[in-house]
Amino acid sequence: MSPTSGFVCECRNLYVSHNPQVENPNMVLQDINLAVAPGEMVSIVGPSGGGKSTLLYTLAGFTRPYHGTTELLGRCTTKASQRQISAIHRAGVGFVFQQYNLIPSLPTIDNVTLPRRFAGRRIDKKYASLLLEQMGLGAEITKRTGDLSGGQQQRVAVARVIYSQPSLVFADEPTGALDSHNGSIILDALESLAQAGSAVLLVTHDLQAAARADRAITLRDGQVQRIFVNPTADELFAGSLLGGQHV
Ligand SMILES: Nc1ncnc2c1ncn2[C@@H]1O[C@H](COP(=O)(O)OP(=O)(O)OP(=O)(O)O)[C@@H](O)[C@H]1O
Ligand SMILES: [Mg+2]
Repeated sequence: MSPTSGFVCECRNLYVSHNPQVENPNMVLQDINLAVAPGEMVSIVGPSGGGKSTLLYTLAGFTRPYHGTTELLGRCTTKASQRQISAIHRAGVGFVFQQYNLIPSLPTIDNVTLPRRFAGRRIDKKYASLLLEQMGLGAEITKRTGDLSGGQQQRVAVARVIYSQPSLVFADEPTGALDSHNGSIILDALESLAQAGSAVLLVTHDLQAAARADRAITLRDGQVQRIFVNPTADELFAGSLLGGQHV
């Protein structure tokens, strides 16, 4: 687990299977090569079931590669233990999961500060409250998180990540449950994080959102279909119609 590269997230020749133990495993991802630099925002788009969440989970170290290598914050994670992965996460990786992964019984503000508390770092409740206010959740700060709407919980999940100031953020459909106004708040926040030097990997079905990234990758049937640099939504829309074309 010694440092290996200047990238915050990298995979080479990555294959992933959800049934790796059987004789002819089905590959959900095939031959994925990706390197993300500090401050870079990369979006991943493509049809449902194409492997976007699986790619994020594998890069984050939750799913083990079937073949190939993965690195996180410059550390090789291909065969790392969950304990080693957790230590890397605490050092500077944040997640916005498709299912939010908040603790419903806790007040909203405590869900925001929890990862820093776990990492043994100083808690600044004023800053946490400010972030929640910026997310339009000023009235929800002390409410039980489980009593919030899906869209409100999604914003809490984003506030939690921003609060921890990670070097790398994985966001899986962070605007999926939101109207366009609240979606913009989230995207602005993720973009600001990237401008401040964090890398952001964003999975989204929203091509306008994806176009805010420095690079967009289209994933179809587990393979990289195309890579767009400084993408536009129109380009991504046209690209999504050109099934099977590789760059
Ligand atoms: N835990 C799992 N066990 C078995 N198969 C899985 C598992 N998770 C995902 N899959 C399968 O892997 C493929 C890719 O799924 P994945 O969730 O990565 O797609 P996705 O692109 O994120 O889709 P969506 O846009 O609907 O979120 C799908 O065929 C899915 O059924
Ligand atoms: Mg998904």
